Amino acid sequence: MLGIIGGTGFESVPKFEITRKQAVDTPYGKPSSALYYATLNGNPSIVLSRHGTGPRIMPHQINYRANIYALHDQGVTDVIAIAAVGGITRRFISGSLSLPDQIIDYTWGREHTFFDNTVNFNIPTKDLGHVEFAYPYDLHLRESILKCAKNAGQPIIDHGVYGVTQGPRFETAAEIDRMDRDGADMVGMTAMPEAALARELGMSYATLAMVVNPAAGRSNEAISMAGIRQILEKTTNKVYQMLLAFHSIR
Ligand code: HPA
Repeated sequence: MLGIIGGTGFESVPKFEITRKQAVDTPYGKPSSALYYATLNGNPSIVLSRHGTGPRIMPHQINYRANIYALHDQGVTDVIAIAAVGGITRRFISGSLSLPDQIIDYTWGREHTFFDNTVNFNIPTKDLGHVEFAYPYDLHLRESILKCAKNAGQPIIDHGVYGVTQGPRFETAAEIDRMDRDGADMVGMTAMPEAALARELGMSYATLAMVVNPAAGRSNEAISMAGIRQILEKTTNKVYQMLLAFHSIR
Protein backbone atom coordinates (compact mmCIF):
# COMPACT_ATOMS: atom_id res chain seq x y z
CA MET A 1 0.00 0.00 0.00
CA LEU A 2 1.11 3.54 -0.77
CA GLY A 3 1.79 5.97 2.06
CA ILE A 4 2.08 9.69 1.54
CA ILE A 5 3.73 11.91 4.10
CA GLY A 6 2.65 15.45 3.37
CA GLY A 7 4.98 18.25 4.40
CA THR A 8 4.68 22.02 4.44
CA GLY A 9 1.85 23.02 2.14
CA PHE A 10 0.06 19.72 2.68
CA GLU A 11 -1.30 20.32 6.15
CA SER A 12 -4.82 20.22 4.75
CA VAL A 13 -4.76 16.50 4.00
CA PRO A 14 -8.46 16.33 3.16
CA LYS A 15 -7.77 17.80 -0.29
CA PHE A 16 -7.43 14.15 -1.19
CA GLU A 17 -10.63 12.16 -1.36
CA ILE A 18 -10.65 10.69 2.12
CA THR A 19 -12.62 7.52 2.77
CA ARG A 20 -11.72 7.08 6.42
CA LYS A 21 -9.81 8.91 9.12
CA GLN A 22 -8.22 6.94 11.91
CA ALA A 23 -6.35 8.21 14.96
CA VAL A 24 -3.72 5.68 15.99
CA ASP A 25 -1.16 5.23 18.73
CA THR A 26 2.20 3.44 18.56
CA PRO A 27 4.78 2.12 21.03
CA TYR A 28 6.65 5.37 20.26
CA GLY A 29 3.73 7.67 20.92
CA LYS A 30 1.29 9.40 18.65
CA PRO A 31 2.05 10.18 15.01
CA SER A 32 1.90 13.79 13.80
CA SER A 33 -1.67 13.38 12.58
CA ALA A 34 -4.45 10.88 12.16
CA LEU A 35 -4.10 8.50 9.23
CA TYR A 36 -6.27 9.49 6.29
CA TYR A 37 -7.28 6.63 4.02
CA ALA A 38 -7.63 7.75 0.45
CA THR A 39 -7.86 6.26 -3.02
CA LEU A 40 -5.47 7.87 -5.48
CA ASN A 41 -6.13 6.82 -9.05
CA GLY A 42 -7.40 3.49 -7.78
CA ASN A 43 -4.50 2.97 -5.37
CA PRO A 44 -5.49 2.55 -1.74
CA SER A 45 -3.29 4.97 0.13
CA ILE A 46 -2.75 6.39 3.56
CA VAL A 47 -1.92 10.05 3.97
CA LEU A 48 -0.24 11.49 7.05
CA SER A 49 0.55 15.12 7.72
CA ARG A 50 4.13 15.43 8.94
CA HIS A 51 3.67 18.78 10.68
CA GLY A 52 0.20 17.91 12.00
CA THR A 53 -3.13 19.36 10.99
CA GLY A 54 -3.37 21.66 14.01
CA PRO A 55 -0.60 23.79 15.53
CA ARG A 56 2.53 23.20 13.47
CA ILE A 57 4.91 20.53 14.76
CA MET A 58 8.43 21.81 14.07
CA PRO A 59 10.92 19.59 12.21
CA HIS A 60 13.04 18.80 15.28
CA GLN A 61 9.94 17.93 17.31
CA ILE A 62 8.31 15.54 14.86
CA ASN A 63 7.93 12.01 16.19
CA TYR A 64 9.43 10.40 13.10
CA ARG A 65 9.42 6.95 14.66
CA ALA A 66 5.71 7.10 15.48
CA ASN A 67 4.94 8.32 11.95
CA ILE A 68 6.88 5.57 10.19
CA TYR A 69 5.79 2.89 12.64
CA ALA A 70 2.12 3.82 12.22
CA LEU A 71 2.29 3.66 8.43
CA HIS A 72 4.13 0.35 8.50
CA ASP A 73 1.70 -1.04 11.05
CA GLN A 74 -1.22 -0.24 8.73
CA GLY A 75 0.36 -2.10 5.83
CA VAL A 76 2.17 0.70 3.99
CA THR A 77 5.01 -0.69 1.88
CA ASP A 78 5.96 2.38 -0.17
CA VAL A 79 6.26 5.92 1.13
CA ILE A 80 6.23 9.06 -0.98
CA ALA A 81 7.51 11.83 1.24
CA ILE A 82 6.65 15.32 0.11
CA ALA A 83 9.02 18.02 1.24
CA ALA A 84 9.53 21.74 0.77
CA VAL A 85 13.20 22.60 0.35
CA GLY A 86 15.49 25.54 -0.34
CA GLY A 87 17.50 25.47 -3.56
CA ILE A 88 21.29 25.55 -3.31
CA THR A 89 22.70 24.74 -6.75
CA ARG A 90 21.77 26.44 -9.99
CA ARG A 91 19.12 24.13 -11.42
CA PHE A 92 17.14 24.04 -8.20
CA ILE A 93 15.16 27.22 -8.69
CA SER A 94 12.00 28.13 -6.80
CA GLY A 95 8.92 26.40 -8.12
CA SER A 96 10.76 23.37 -9.47
CA LEU A 97 10.16 19.80 -8.45
CA SER A 98 12.93 17.33 -7.74
CA LEU A 99 13.33 13.68 -6.98
CA PRO A 100 16.52 13.59 -4.91
CA ASP A 101 18.72 10.52 -5.12
CA GLN A 102 21.00 11.16 -2.17
CA ILE A 103 20.99 12.54 1.37
CA ILE A 104 23.52 14.23 3.62
CA ASP A 105 22.37 14.29 7.24
CA TYR A 106 23.32 17.34 9.34
CA THR A 107 20.67 16.77 12.01
CA TRP A 108 21.47 15.92 15.61
CA GLY A 109 19.69 14.77 18.74
CA ARG A 110 16.69 13.24 16.99
CA GLU A 111 15.31 9.81 17.83
CA HIS A 112 16.70 8.29 14.67
CA THR A 113 16.48 4.50 14.94
CA PHE A 114 14.15 1.67 15.89
CA PHE A 115 17.17 -0.37 16.98
CA ASP A 116 17.76 1.09 20.41
CA ASN A 117 16.21 -1.58 22.63
CA THR A 118 13.87 0.89 24.33
CA VAL A 119 10.68 -0.55 22.95
CA ASN A 120 10.27 -4.26 22.85
CA PHE A 121 8.34 -5.15 19.76
CA ASN A 122 8.73 -7.36 16.83
CA ILE A 123 11.28 -5.66 14.59
CA PRO A 124 13.92 -8.22 13.70
CA THR A 125 17.31 -6.92 14.82
CA LYS A 126 19.14 -8.64 12.02
CA ASP A 127 22.71 -7.52 11.43
CA LEU A 128 22.65 -5.55 14.68
CA GLY A 129 20.59 -2.83 13.05
CA HIS A 130 23.28 -1.85 10.57
CA VAL A 131 20.94 -1.42 7.63
CA GLU A 132 22.26 -0.82 4.15
CA PHE A 133 21.70 2.83 3.23
CA ALA A 134 24.16 3.68 0.44
CA TYR A 135 21.22 4.60 -1.78
CA PRO A 136 18.58 5.95 0.60
CA TYR A 137 15.83 6.36 -2.00
CA ASP A 138 14.13 3.39 -3.60
CA LEU A 139 14.96 3.05 -7.28
CA HIS A 140 11.61 1.55 -8.34
CA LEU A 141 9.53 4.06 -6.45
CA ARG A 142 11.59 6.90 -7.91
CA GLU A 143 11.04 5.48 -11.39
CA SER A 144 7.29 5.26 -10.78
CA ILE A 145 7.21 8.89 -9.72
CA LEU A 146 9.29 9.95 -12.73
CA LYS A 147 6.93 8.09 -15.03
CA CYS A 148 4.00 9.76 -13.36
CA ALA A 149 5.61 13.19 -13.82
CA LYS A 150 6.23 12.41 -17.47
CA ASN A 151 2.62 11.33 -18.01
CA ALA A 152 1.41 14.47 -16.31
CA GLY A 153 3.74 16.59 -18.47
CA GLN A 154 5.32 17.85 -15.30
CA PRO A 155 9.01 18.80 -15.48
CA ILE A 156 10.99 17.33 -12.60
CA ILE A 157 14.71 17.25 -11.84
CA ASP A 158 15.47 13.55 -11.68
CA HIS A 159 18.32 13.72 -9.20
CA GLY A 160 19.74 15.82 -6.41
CA VAL A 161 21.41 15.65 -3.03
CA TYR A 162 19.15 16.61 -0.14
CA GLY A 163 21.05 18.12 2.80
CA VAL A 164 19.02 17.82 6.00
CA THR A 165 19.52 20.49 8.66
CA GLN A 166 18.28 20.59 12.21
CA GLY A 167 16.21 23.78 12.13
CA PRO A 168 13.89 25.22 13.00
CA ARG A 169 15.95 28.27 12.06
CA PHE A 170 17.09 28.64 8.48
CA GLU A 171 20.79 28.23 7.73
CA THR A 172 23.55 30.82 7.60
CA ALA A 173 25.01 31.71 4.20
CA ALA A 174 28.29 30.04 5.24
CA GLU A 175 26.46 26.87 6.20
CA ILE A 176 24.86 26.80 2.76
CA ASP A 177 28.27 27.41 1.13
CA ARG A 178 29.63 24.47 3.08
CA MET A 179 26.69 22.29 2.06
CA ASP A 180 27.28 23.32 -1.55
CA ARG A 181 30.93 22.23 -1.25
CA ASP A 182 29.71 18.98 0.29
CA GLY A 183 27.61 18.38 -2.81
CA ALA A 184 24.12 19.26 -1.55
CA ASP A 185 21.69 20.61 -4.16
CA MET A 186 18.82 21.37 -1.81
CA VAL A 187 18.27 21.91 1.89
CA GLY A 188 15.36 20.83 4.05
CA MET A 189 14.77 19.77 7.63
CA THR A 190 12.80 16.53 7.56
CA ALA A 191 14.27 13.85 5.30
CA MET A 192 16.21 12.44 8.23
CA PRO A 193 15.66 10.37 10.22
CA GLU A 194 12.47 9.69 8.23
CA ALA A 195 14.19 7.99 5.28
CA ALA A 196 16.42 5.83 7.49
CA LEU A 197 13.54 4.73 9.71
CA ALA A 198 11.58 3.64 6.64
CA ARG A 199 14.59 1.64 5.52
CA GLU A 200 14.90 0.02 8.95
CA LEU A 201 11.37 -1.31 8.57
CA GLY A 202 12.00 -2.45 5.01
CA MET A 203 9.75 0.11 3.37
CA SER A 204 10.49 1.71 0.01
CA TYR A 205 10.85 5.47 0.35
CA ALA A 206 11.25 8.39 -2.04
CA THR A 207 11.11 12.14 -1.54
CA LEU A 208 9.24 14.41 -3.90
CA ALA A 209 10.81 17.77 -3.20
CA MET A 210 9.38 21.17 -4.02
CA VAL A 211 11.92 23.98 -4.19
CA VAL A 212 10.23 26.89 -2.44
CA ASN A 213 13.02 29.42 -1.90
CA PRO A 214 16.64 30.12 -2.74
CA ALA A 215 18.72 28.83 0.21
CA ALA A 216 20.28 31.32 2.61
CA GLY A 217 22.69 33.71 0.90
CA ARG A 218 21.60 32.58 -2.57
CA SER A 219 19.34 35.58 -3.16
CA ASN A 220 19.21 39.22 -2.09
CA GLU A 221 15.92 38.63 -0.34
CA ALA A 222 15.68 37.20 3.16
CA ILE A 223 13.92 33.86 3.41
CA SER A 224 10.41 34.31 4.77
CA MET A 225 7.55 31.95 5.39
CA ALA A 226 5.32 34.40 3.51
CA GLY A 227 7.53 34.09 0.42
CA ILE A 228 7.63 30.33 0.80
CA ARG A 229 3.83 30.10 1.07
CA GLN A 230 3.49 32.08 -2.14
CA ILE A 231 5.63 29.61 -4.09
CA LEU A 232 3.98 26.68 -2.33
CA GLU A 233 0.54 27.70 -3.51
CA LYS A 234 1.52 27.01 -7.12
CA THR A 235 3.86 24.13 -6.47
CA THR A 236 1.61 22.01 -4.25
CA ASN A 237 -0.93 22.00 -7.04
CA LYS A 238 1.58 20.39 -9.38
CA VAL A 239 2.23 17.71 -6.78
CA TYR A 240 -1.48 17.07 -6.23
CA GLN A 241 -1.99 16.64 -9.96
CA MET A 242 0.86 14.16 -10.09
CA LEU A 243 -0.29 12.13 -7.12
CA LEU A 244 -3.84 11.96 -8.37
CA ALA A 245 -2.48 10.42 -11.57
CA PHE A 246 -0.12 8.08 -9.75
CA HIS A 247 -0.08 4.59 -11.19
CA SER A 248 0.69 1.36 -9.50
CA ILE A 249 3.84 1.16 -7.46
CA ARG A 250 4.97 -2.30 -8.42
N1 HPA B 1 16.31 25.58 4.59
C1 HPA B 1 15.87 24.53 5.31
N2 HPA B 1 14.67 24.00 5.16
C2 HPA B 1 13.85 24.54 4.23
C3 HPA B 1 14.25 25.63 3.45
C4 HPA B 1 15.54 26.18 3.63
O1 HPA B 1 15.96 27.15 2.98
N3 HPA B 1 13.19 25.92 2.64
C5 HPA B 1 12.21 25.01 2.93
N4 HPA B 1 12.61 24.18 3.89
